Amino acid sequence: MSKITAAITGVQGYVPDYVLTNKELETLVDTNDEWITTRTGIKERRILKGEDQGTSVIGINAAKGLLEKTGTDPKELDAIICATTTPDMAFPATANIIGKAIGAEGIFGFDLQAACSGFLYALQTGAKYIESGMYKKVLVIGADKMSSIINYEDRTTCIIFGDGGGAVLLEPDTEGHGIIDAVLGSDGVGEDFLHMKAGGSRRPATHDTIDNKEHYVYQEGKTVFKFAVTNMAEAAAEVMERNELKGEDIAWLVPHQANLRIIDATANRMNVGSEKVMVNIQKYGNTTSGTIPLCLWEWEPQLKKGDNLILAAFGGGFTWGALYVKWAYDPK
Ligand code: UT7
Repeated sequence: MSKITAAITGVQGYVPDYVLTNKELETLVDTNDEWITTRTGIKERRILKGEDQGTSVIGINAAKGLLEKTGTDPKELDAIICATTTPDMAFPATANIIGKAIGAEGIFGFDLQAACSGFLYALQTGAKYIESGMYKKVLVIGADKMSSIINYEDRTTCIIFGDGGGAVLLEPDTEGHGIIDAVLGSDGVGEDFLHMKAGGSRRPATHDTIDNKEHYVYQEGKTVFKFAVTNMAEAAAEVMERNELKGEDIAWLVPHQANLRIIDATANRMNVGSEKVMVNIQKYGNTTSGTIPLCLWEWEPQLKKGDNLILAAFGGGFTWGALYVKWAYDPK
């Protein structure tokens, strides 16, 4: 019997309508378009506005669009894995909220948190359920409403993040398409440099935690930048070496969109030309778990069956990873 791999058989993204431009940020904090553009590559990001709008809104929109375009009945799904750092609530899982809204209640599902590497962790986890023969259709979502944990008075973080995400369908393949290999890692040393101090069990919300602005992303950008450049590029290089892939064998690098300079460094280490690198950071900023599915969605019309893709990410934790994916279908 041929080996079962987990193929991505569809992808759909979702971003909210509201566009937060660098110009508007200039009215909120002491910054300017030129600084943001040269240091990060970001021009604008999307913000999910409105009362009671959580990350599930992004996941539900992406999942509904995906089911429609792939002709999948929600009752056929076996599992939902939602990678997110900004769940609607501490519990229940956002995956459960999405499952109910799309008509897939009753199935196995859970949230997975690995900050900006969350989608890659979730994809590899979902792939194992398919490869083992346990499940036939696994919905993997990466979505974040980063604006819910950003301090719009802190110029070092508010210029970076945005809201958005996407969903992919994983199904069994016996022709060698799908997730072929993964290098994933983490190091708790990252806690000091990138975290949200309060709101968890160590420091539950109090008047003090709110007054001290502890419910927002705290980042020591320079340190995180150094770790990100090294680890994202190393993970990508390792998965390539293990699979005897050279730069010319790669059709697309699909990098986490944290900073254009980190993306360029990864592409250089892989010996992949900029024409083969998916970049949409200028439109969406860093959507944490959402960046990679948003790239796959935008480039889907250009992806061909058999294309070699390297997906690479780095994030809080620290966490990092690179997946080797052989694309399973031609543009429809
Ligand atoms: O996805 C999760 C993982 N996160 C990342 O990968 C993010 C990694 N880090 C970064 O992308 C970059 O470190 C940042 C974009 C966050 C910052 O860029 P940087 O080139 O490392 O700038 P910096 O922090 O060294 O700051 C340089 C200067 C400072 O001023 P002084 O001390 O030189 O006078 C900052 O105060 O730029 C100042 N600055 C700003 N100026 C205008 C910091 N933020 C801003 C701003 N506008 N928004």
